[in-house]
Amino acid sequence: AQTVTRDADGVVTVGGIPVTRLAEEFGTPAYVLDEADFRARARAWRTAFGQDADVFYAGKAFLSRAVVRWLHEEGLNVDVCSGGELATALSAGMPAERIAFHGNNKSVDEITRAVEAGVGHIVLDSFQEIVRVAHIAQGLGKRQKVLIRITVGVEAHTHEFIATAHEDQKFGIPLAGGQAAEAVRRALQLDGLELVGIHSHIGSQIFDMSGFEVAAHRVVSLLKDVRDEHGVELPEIDLGGGLGIAYTSDDDPREPHEIAKSLTEIVTRECEAAKLRTPRISVEPGRAIVGPTAFTLYEVGTIKPLDGLRTYVSVDGGMSDNIRTALYDAEYSVALVSRTSDAAPMLARVVGKHCESGDIVVKDAFLPADVAPGDLVAVPATGAYCRSMASNYNHVLRPPVVAVQGGEARAIVRRETEEDLLRLDVG
Ligand code: LLP
Repeated sequence: AQTVTRDADGVVTVGGIPVTRLAEEFGTPAYVLDEADFRARARAWRTAFGQDADVFYAGKAFLSRAVVRWLHEEGLNVDVCSGGELATALSAGMPAERIAFHGNNKSVDEITRAVEAGVGHIVLDSFQEIVRVAHIAQGLGKRQKVLIRITVGVEAHTHEFIATAHEDQKFGIPLAGGQAAEAVRRALQLDGLELVGIHSHIGSQIFDMSGFEVAAHRVVSLLKDVRDEHGVELPEIDLGGGLGIAYTSDDDPREPHEIAKSLTEIVTRECEAAKLRTPRISVEPGRAIVGPTAFTLYEVGTIKPLDGLRTYVSVDGGMSDNIRTALYDAEYSVALVSRTSDAAPMLARVVGKHCESGDIVVKDAFLPADVAPGDLVAVPATGAYCRSMASNYNHVLRPPVVAVQGGEARAIVRRETEEDLLRLDVG
């Protein structure tokens, strides 16, 4: 786990480095990522699933070249969903066959680059894409390994914008109405494609394994239908990502070994019942690997007590470095990390510096009543979907990602500069 302690002066240290030193060296706001913790989590997933399964880290949660190298070293694969993510994974030396390419509207250019590079899987998301990928692969004289993404009709209990297996949304091909079976039929006919399996991703920030069990059941029943109709046993299934992490102490996440055990058991049981060879299982955790490994370090700028309501504590970042509170009503916690305080706890709302009132980082939090400008505060569990969803709203510069390891700190993504911003402005 992340090695966070307080030194004799009450300053929080991470990976052996006081946050005050990190703030001096790298400035604030900054995402501070514990490399040892990242590697340990990646390794735990790899070990839990063993050699008969593949773990694809979902790059959308957070991707950089250093992270790709760590994943490579720890034996994980990478799932990408854009040309930019593909370029990052390839440029960091991830072998193409260990990359899977996702997305509901990959461009012709992106597909061409992926096929040319030789990615391990392309996950087909629509009838058009079945034809499009087949055509491109054939044109390049290749046969591309593909999975078909289906929607199994499970309602995952999570925020509507991040639930993906119910039918009324943009991803995948519905199992209902025989559409998925029709997609398999078409893919099997096309020379440019080698259909190796079925993919399902039911949503994100999920704690209850029952959605995965229903999904696995339905995917296996499709494999059985495919065997009965075509005499083909598809060798792979991918059950996606989506495992939840603890943002606050109320959340109770499952461990990788529990998840691996549960998924492997259900797939094996269902396949035995259907007299199918057990397929190779893949999973695609993003948040569960990188989420807990980082916190955002902010400096407090202004304090505004509103009588009878709460105290607004403004920090030097906000919705541009963490949009999740505004977008999903996500819950975070916050702690004073540059010193200890004996002051009574006070109800605070941690807000950013952007020009709108929805710019909230932590909705309800208790901070010591003597919190003051210049204090450093940290918001934990910001490793996933914070830097990767960061924006330049109000022309704010995106923060660096600082990796700490064994008493050393280095930026793996540097802070943006005003020059970076102005370089794009060519009018
Ligand atoms: N596989 C597929 C096909 C996905 O679409 C996703 C996430 C994952 C794997 C990884 O899911 P994870 O294990 O990280 O939950 N921006 C949202 C989350 C969007 C997730 C999109 N797809 C958030 O901040 O909560």
